[in-house]
Amino acid sequence: MNLQVKSFEEYQQAYQLSIDHPEVFWANIAEHFTWKKKWDRVLDWNFSEPQIEWFGGAKLNITENCLDRHLENNGDDIAIIWESNDPDEASRNISYRELHQQVCTFSNVLKQNGAKKGDRICLYMPMIPELEVALLACARIGAIHSVVFGGFSAQSISDRIQDAQCNIVVTADGSFRGNKEICLKNIMDEALISCPSVERVIVVERSKSAISMEKGRDVFYDQEMSRMESLGLTDFAAEPMDAEDPLFILYTSGSTGKPKGVVHTCGGYMVFATYTFQNIFQYKKGQIYFCTADIGWITGHTYIVYGPLASGATSLMFEGIPTFPDAGRFWDIVEKFKVNILYTAPTAIRSLMAFGLDFVKNKDLSSLQALGSVGEPINEEAWNWYNEHIGKKNCPIVDTWWQTETGGIMISPLAHLTPTKPCYATLPLPGIQPILVDEKGEEIVGNGVSGNLCIKFPWPGMIRTTYGDHERCRTTYFATYENLYFTGDGCLRDEDGYYRITGRVDDVMNISGHRIGTAEVENAINMHSGVIESAVVAYPHDIKGQGIYAYVIMDNATHDPSQIKKDISATVTKIIGAIARPDKIQIVSGLPKTRSGKIMRRILRKIAEGDVSNLGDTSTLLDPAVVEKIKDERI
Ligand code: WTA
Repeated sequence: MNLQVKSFEEYQQAYQLSIDHPEVFWANIAEHFTWKKKWDRVLDWNFSEPQIEWFGGAKLNITENCLDRHLENNGDDIAIIWESNDPDEASRNISYRELHQQVCTFSNVLKQNGAKKGDRICLYMPMIPELEVALLACARIGAIHSVVFGGFSAQSISDRIQDAQCNIVVTADGSFRGNKEICLKNIMDEALISCPSVERVIVVERSKSAISMEKGRDVFYDQEMSRMESLGLTDFAAEPMDAEDPLFILYTSGSTGKPKGVVHTCGGYMVFATYTFQNIFQYKKGQIYFCTADIGWITGHTYIVYGPLASGATSLMFEGIPTFPDAGRFWDIVEKFKVNILYTAPTAIRSLMAFGLDFVKNKDLSSLQALGSVGEPINEEAWNWYNEHIGKKNCPIVDTWWQTETGGIMISPLAHLTPTKPCYATLPLPGIQPILVDEKGEEIVGNGVSGNLCIKFPWPGMIRTTYGDHERCRTTYFATYENLYFTGDGCLRDEDGYYRITGRVDDVMNISGHRIGTAEVENAINMHSGVIESAVVAYPHDIKGQGIYAYVIMDNATHDPSQIKKDISATVTKIIGAIARPDKIQIVSGLPKTRSGKIMRRILRKIAEGDVSNLGDTSTLLDPAVVEKIKDERI
């Protein structure tokens, strides 16, 4: 069986086989990889604990699949094209051979700095090739990487480092984002004050800005690489890993509590990342593929690094932002490198749309063959704009639905093969069995229906646990409905059996494609000394998809309202990061609560949306007058 299906009929056949004989199907796919030892069993599972094991007994190292196996015949192929934030700085091409060499050398750096198999290593870095090198080197030595997005605050980093008990950190002096610089090392230094587990910090020099290096703890990336070279330590035998050994942790927000560490394992994740990459984008050797995500999120892990590299693809990595030096930057990059496949997010499309066509019209986009969308529902206007002005009605748009927890794309068209429909993620990938259920967990059968989206059978890339707290994994994903993985998303299945994801049905917001929990933002706001209580909801936002609306009760002291809003914003930026800053803050004297004290978010959501005429049943409210006041003072 081929890894890549070549027609819609082949997709249908693969899908059927994957349902009738999942183990046969996935074993066939897994045959396309390099294993140090083959599996004894393809799958062991139950959703009640949950306990999920793919390719049990197998041994592998994912970096042999991403690097070594390409060397003999394709070692000079370009693995990474790197484009700087600064359009005048030279871009970099890194071949598979060079990447292999750097990963091996940095594996030695990690080892020489005390890293061992199973250790957790935190990466807090700009979008530079050294991030990919560090990620792959962790995988090569069998350490578990935990990448923290460069926009998170010291407090967020510290929470993540402490949760995973990381002993090593790789970071950089600074990160360029448009005309701003983020001083990563300074932020990391602040985080590390409360992280005694960290013994070594390896620092890449990118911005060359002034930083402090702590004696005995901090070392420079380049110096360490040179030291290995002078010691002749430029080779590194990949550590044999069990298929079910953890590969990485990635923290993501849920509806309650602090972000949790989603754990993915080596074998299943590799198979799923690669299978989905090759099928959805229909990648052909020699094509230039550009995913605009940041490696700090799951999209970057799976579709900048692991999926493309395991496929021998050329994956473009961009350090900057879509609007610098102007809103034509993506299109300049497409033109410059003759990009064939572009994978981006609706929020980026909407923000570029808002700048008008002047930034698109003189760009040569004729190299493009397929377009992708990810991270949030794509609205029809954005879909049409992407189709007309970027794809010139010649490129299929693959609207890919998936989650940090799913490891890879679950529901999506296959480019050029699946007939698309605006705003529809269309059909499940082979191996994926979606079902819709009602509030009670009863299956909703047939077409032309909507419900809560669940998955009823395991797939190789699925979450295995939440780091250090397996019970949280069970209660979050497997306890809402018996024997089902619950996604948290609402979904419609139309007359053709096509799926359209309508958005979260829980208290998770999606701000510019970033997942943020309402509780997380409330906790941050409540850290402000003058705040008594707060409630946060999402509301529709033209560019971001959703914006954050915060209702805040202050103490009795006199506050200057505009100052207090600035202070609350600053507090959220400090506790979480600028991405979680509320768009609107309304100071209120009370919140709508039931007699049992529960905040009625439904009402707050309606008010934030501006839909105040019909607030539904308010009879259970303790004090209905509160609602009237909030309505009147709405911003
Ligand atoms: C949403 C990002 C509609 C969804 C890969 C999901 C989408 C959450 C789509 C996961 C899509 C992602 N259409 N909604 N194509 N893709 N989502 O973990 O609500 O950052 O549950 O993973 O984003 O966000 P996460």
